[in-house]
Amino acid sequence: MYRLIVESGERFPYASTAKRLKPSTKKNRPVILVTGGAGFIGSHLLDALLAGAATPEVRVLDNFSSGRREHLAQHKNDPRLKVFKLDLLDFKKAAATFKGVDRVFHLAANPDARWGIDNTRLDLEQETLVTYHVLEAMRRHGAAQIVFASSGTVYGDVGATVTRETLGPALPISLYGAGKVASEALISAFCATFGLRGVILRFGNIVGERTTHGAIYDFLRRLAKNSAELKVLGNGRQSKPYIYVRDIVDAIVFGGEKCAELEAGRFDVFNVAPDGGTTVRFIAEELVAQLGFKGRTKISYGTTAGGWPGDVPVSRMDSTKLRNAGFVLPRSSDEAVRLAIRRILEWLPQRKNAKDDLRLPKDAKLISN
Ligand SMILES: NC(=O)c1ccc[n+]([C@@H]2O[C@H](COP(=O)([O-])OP(=O)(O)OC[C@H]3O[C@@H](n4cnc5c(N)ncnc54)[C@H](O)[C@@H]3O)[C@@H](O)[C@H]2O)c1
Repeated sequence: MYRLIVESGERFPYASTAKRLKPSTKKNRPVILVTGGAGFIGSHLLDALLAGAATPEVRVLDNFSSGRREHLAQHKNDPRLKVFKLDLLDFKKAAATFKGVDRVFHLAANPDARWGIDNTRLDLEQETLVTYHVLEAMRRHGAAQIVFASSGTVYGDVGATVTRETLGPALPISLYGAGKVASEALISAFCATFGLRGVILRFGNIVGERTTHGAIYDFLRRLAKNSAELKVLGNGRQSKPYIYVRDIVDAIVFGGEKCAELEAGRFDVFNVAPDGGTTVRFIAEELVAQLGFKGRTKISYGTTAGGWPGDVPVSRMDSTKLRNAGFVLPRSSDEAVRLAIRRILEWLPQRKNAKDDLRLPKDAKLISN
């Protein structure tokens, strides 16, 4: 087991730490830690990392609040995977798992922007404080590279403006977005002060099998209870860019490679989203059609532009910088949604011992689009 090198309470080394952070000697075979690795995106990232024979070791640090054991089951016999069921808010225990790590993919967070409405401390703790703990653990243990799962919500509500990484100041309208901005700022500061290297990826909306939240997840749960009617939050004209989960994983792995190329102390920011967007109306209609409920399920919409306070009604992101760096998303937003719905509907019947109420509606007759 791992031991904490620097006990909490010890005087912090200051900027001299930058010199102590040795560049990884195993750049091509880094020991990797994935925070939130049992979650929706994190578990797909694990699949990709463990598919590579060159990966010597992957650690998962997850408190399993929304992460699931079932997402990791396919790797249970892989000796390269080490799973730590720990809460990142428990710094002392969590920090010990960073010893010997070269690259951190930091995905652990409150994943749902709506939850901050009921608990205003949630994003402060699960985004900002958790990210601080990750960075501080990295600094203490000499883990040099961080790739961070940020979000287009950092830009706030700027209407149909196509956002670039340079748009600022970032003025989010949700506590979730505020937590992402604060986390990005901490990464910038830790890189400059202590010689870490960081890549911040601002995702659009991610969809696909193993989903743990979001519009498709909510709609399916509602339809499983009552397939005659689907009530949609907001007027259905909310429109955002969507990315199929395995495509975002490729972008995250690419982010890791970019991170390794950075000089010590530097960080970079990339939007990751297709051009254009998909409306909530499209998602609802596509889901109903693929379930075989077209003409049977009444889809009813609300009247508000956003689904809930803090929901950005329209989001458009420019990923030119990422494309110029060498990574191109392979499908449009509508294609991503269509594929994700198909894969989710194929995956649902295969789930074993699922502890949530996400299931295929009993009367569904799947129609593949
Ligand atoms: N899904 C999206 O559309 C989307 C869009 C933009 C950004 N992101 C970001 O991507 C990341 C992953 O999101 P996801 O959709 O896979 O969500 P998810 O909830 O499935 O994954 C988050 C994981 O973090 C774990 N976790 C949460 N708090 C923790 C803590 N204190 N200590 C240890 N583990 C903790 C959860 O158990 C879960 O496994 C998040 O940072 C999220 O904000 C997601």
